[in-house]
Amino acid sequence: MSDKQKDTKVDELLPGDFIPAQELLEHEYDGIQEADNPLPKWWVQLFLICIVFAVVYTPLVHMFDLLPKSFLARDIAHAAMAADQREAELIASGAYDADPVAAGKKYYATFCVTCHGTYGEGGIGPNLTDQFWIHGPEETQIMGTIVNGVAAKGMPTWGPILGERKIKMITAYVMTLWNSNPPAAGKKAEGEAYDMAVIRAPKDAAPADSLATAADTTKKI
Ligand code: HEC
Repeated sequence: MSDKQKDTKVDELLPGDFIPAQELLEHEYDGIQEADNPLPKWWVQLFLICIVFAVVYTPLVHMFDLLPKSFLARDIAHAAMAADQREAELIASGAYDADPVAAGKKYYATFCVTCHGTYGEGGIGPNLTDQFWIHGPEETQIMGTIVNGVAAKGMPTWGPILGERKIKMITAYVMTLWNSNPPAAGKKAEGEAYDMAVIRAPKDAAPADSLATAADTTKKI
């Protein structure tokens, strides 16, 4: 081995340079050899920091649950109280009863948009503005779907979370969505097609000739 090779430092090497023989590990495959360089300092330090962090964090958080939670609990309690108070004020003001659809729209924006889209056009959940329904378009059917959810398909069970009052208002809003021509592209049809013009026709204003079909409003096309 020449002196020149010995003196060459690994970090001075350029691609294609000869790697000094003493830096190579013994094994060789198809003429390819592995250089025995130390790991970069920053890498080793980061690795050690991770180990120390894991040793402290795991028992603290996952085994003994020792992190202080008083602030979190207090903040959650405050937020819940504030929400209850706003709710009570709205109920007292009669706003909900005056306009259940508008109230339902607000709840929809809070609880449903993530999956059914801002305009009900669908996303993770089905499109609520078209004539296709998996669980039925009638008020009682929609309420049933919301109350019970469809756990296997990812629709949460809202009954225990929202309560009957809110779900009624949300249902009222969902029932206004059919044919609302959402500005966002709607999700493709899911479920079966229903004759929505009949189903959503104002019941007392239905023309005489549609009364026969109105009795069986879940009739499919
Ligand atoms: C985590 C996502 C998610 C959220 C949040 C969610 N849904 Fe759903 N929803 C779904 C999925 C998925 C389905 C389809 C269930 C199926 O395939 O049977 C569904 C189905 C429905 C249906 C039946 C549609 C049909 O075609 O019959 C209605 C109505 C509905 N959701 C209303 C709501 C309302 C109202 C809310 C808010 C309170 C809500 N959903 C919140 C995911 C969600």
